[in-house]
Amino acid sequence: MRTKEAVLNILEENCDIYISGQEIADKIFVTRASVWKAIKTLQKDGYNIDAVTNRGYRLIIQPDKLDIARIRHFINESGNEIAAIYLDEVTSTNDYALTYARNHNENALIIAGRQTQGRGRRGRSFYSPEKTGLYMSLLLHPKNKGEIDTALTAMAAVATASAIDEIVYAGESHTSIKWVNDIYLDDKKVAGILAEAYSSMEDKDAAFVIIGIGINVYSPENDFPKDIRDIAGAIVKKRSDINVDILNRLAADIVIKLMNMYYQASYEKDKILEAYREKSFLTGQYIKINSFDGDNKYAFVIGIDEDYHLIVKYDDESCEHISSGEVSVVKY
Ligand code: BTN
Repeated sequence: MRTKEAVLNILEENCDIYISGQEIADKIFVTRASVWKAIKTLQKDGYNIDAVTNRGYRLIIQPDKLDIARIRHFINESGNEIAAIYLDEVTSTNDYALTYARNHNENALIIAGRQTQGRGRRGRSFYSPEKTGLYMSLLLHPKNKGEIDTALTAMAAVATASAIDEIVYAGESHTSIKWVNDIYLDDKKVAGILAEAYSSMEDKDAAFVIIGIGINVYSPENDFPKDIRDIAGAIVKKRSDINVDILNRLAADIVIKLMNMYYQASYEKDKILEAYREKSFLTGQYIKINSFDGDNKYAFVIGIDEDYHLIVKYDDESCEHISSGEVSVVKY
């Protein structure tokens, strides 16, 4: 472990007291000067470390605000490099990520406390009030220049659902995926994903992808707006069921899982498909396939094919592999 990480661990363990540079140095067998250097780097990384003469150092943890330095630290520890930005308010983190992508070549994570124009799929808005949800966008540049993996949205769904299970529910599998990439908990949608791929006409290599993930952490104080009240849910029932550091870890874990799947091939392709299929709750259900012209169809869901298309069987026994669309379960 590098000195910086070791110092941070000690500060975290002792965040309710001041601890002297000498004490830290003795604990990790380095010099006081190295501790001082590590503290300076941590402060530069964005950590709020109070330094008081004759008392020492104390890490100030903000009780109800995500800590972007900490999130970046978790991600870096996993071996993934990323720029990370926190904004108290933004129109949409996906829009911010797009502007960022036009000026930077690096991967980036943008998180916001609230969004004034949060966007969902199919031109819908995504309700994003403060102190209610986790709103984040991940800007990724493809591993093979210009070649965006079409399975990326499925990876994002698997990463989000499994990170919620691991971090919030201590490894118990509670979430499920509603094709294409909505995350559900007890019949309610608790998270949505908006993946947008960009390529440049002049320079194919300039392609990048922005994956926006919105998670309803708690129900808003005055409940969800009427139009989504019947379908929207939250990952915990009340605020005291979760603390902000769990959210730091959740944000980081989603990014780590997704970047590992995308770049490090630590998950093989068929494992991602298997995980997606396992979590997919439409399989075995009778569904309505909504069409824009009002000509809705009904079918039985057989499963998910290798391209993440939904395999359905109509009442006349004919089958179809659907690549996109809006579907809903028919309740009898
Ligand atoms: C959907 O459910 O249709 C997708 C919702 C995606 C919401 C997230 S929140 C962070 C990012 N910024 C946006 O404007 N949208 C995505």
